[in-house]
Amino acid sequence: MTLTDTAPLHKGLDNVYVCESKICFIDGENSRLYYRGYSIEELSQKSTFEEVAYLLLNGSLPTAKNLTSFKNELLSASTPSRHLLEWVAENSRNSDPMDILRTSLSMLSITDKGSESGGQDANLTRGVHILGAAPTIVAAISRARRNLSTVPSPGLSSLAANFLVMHRGEEPDEFDTRAMDQALILHAEHDLNASTFSAIVTASTLSDMYSAVTAAVGTLKGPLHGGANEAALRFVEHVGTPANAEKEVNDTLDRGQRIMGFGHRVYKNYDPRYKILKATSKELCERKGLATMYATAEAIEKAAVARLSDHKILPNVDFFSGIVFKALGIETELFTPVFTMSRISGWAAHVLEYLSDNRLIRPKSVYTGELDRRYIPIKERGA
Ligand code: ACO
Repeated sequence: MTLTDTAPLHKGLDNVYVCESKICFIDGENSRLYYRGYSIEELSQKSTFEEVAYLLLNGSLPTAKNLTSFKNELLSASTPSRHLLEWVAENSRNSDPMDILRTSLSMLSITDKGSESGGQDANLTRGVHILGAAPTIVAAISRARRNLSTVPSPGLSSLAANFLVMHRGEEPDEFDTRAMDQALILHAEHDLNASTFSAIVTASTLSDMYSAVTAAVGTLKGPLHGGANEAALRFVEHVGTPANAEKEVNDTLDRGQRIMGFGHRVYKNYDPRYKILKATSKELCERKGLATMYATAEAIEKAAVARLSDHKILPNVDFFSGIVFKALGIETELFTPVFTMSRISGWAAHVLEYLSDNRLIRPKSVYTGELDRRYIPIKERGA
């Protein structure tokens, strides 16, 4: 008996639509990306991360009054409980930062006394709470790994500046703050990628926002998703100088390995976020005396494009985001947690939207195993 011919298989859910959405539009053939109808180019030039997060969560840009109260909500969440920060400080030294972040965001639910109550307003409040707390947790993870004490939230109205102060222990200049803010905008949302899908799968059971975000963090951790920027930067560091790039790229591809930060399930042309980050990383590297790192990345890009572009495999957001984060002084292991800080806004927006027209997500598998096998008692199964 075969059960394989009963239904079409959609491995990896390629080209499967599971819901309607007004949050994000990606035109992968023409390198276009929109959040709530606004182009990523315009948002990354004119907007701020707080405005973008508000836009994603609420559907329209905030008025000045809306923005002030949204920033205040984020700020009041930026001081999670002392117990949580102590736990982060004690456990971060030898653990994967994404494991600490995933567990910490999940732990936020314990101090949310109404965490079991449903309703869109409660879920929105929780999303904002998680978004406001995450930078403090990520900075605390980083400082513990560097044997430094946690810096409390300085209460700055820009989440990017607040994070950089808590990470560095000193105020960043305007250029660094703007670069960080732009990177957060560019990572905030990207339709139903693997981690966002995880979030809505969890939400669809009528679980809660904390669980949805926790599931998404676990999904983002993987090297084929959020973890690719770390791997891309490590490759740039491994290559070391522009002169080595062509040989290293060719050797890597000839061994059948992938160039991290290249290729995308949706973009079959340049990822528009890559172009913006490339320009920012160039300027940042020049300012920070990291011109060789930038030139090496560019040489890798050129060699990889020469080999892969015929197959429509081109640089994605992760290829230069790692260079931006590194030039901002953020250590490689922290790249995915920093990505997470921003993407929480997109996850929460999708959870809220999906719950407004919820249907339990429950796909099927095509069973290819045996049936009616004879049960053999353990004593008779041999060694
Ligand atoms: N380097 C070399 N070859 C590649 C790459 C790459 N980066 N990406 C895809 N290919 C090749 C595959 O080897 C495969 O070749 P084959 O048909 O000869 O076996 C072919 O292209 C198709 O690959 P798939 O994995 O089926 O393509 P998919 O559309 O699923 O790829 C993915 C998307 C997973 C992102 C892939 O391009 C990849 O692994 N890239 C590297 C990791 C990365 O940069 N991830 C970040 C994505 S963006 C984000 O999540 C924020």
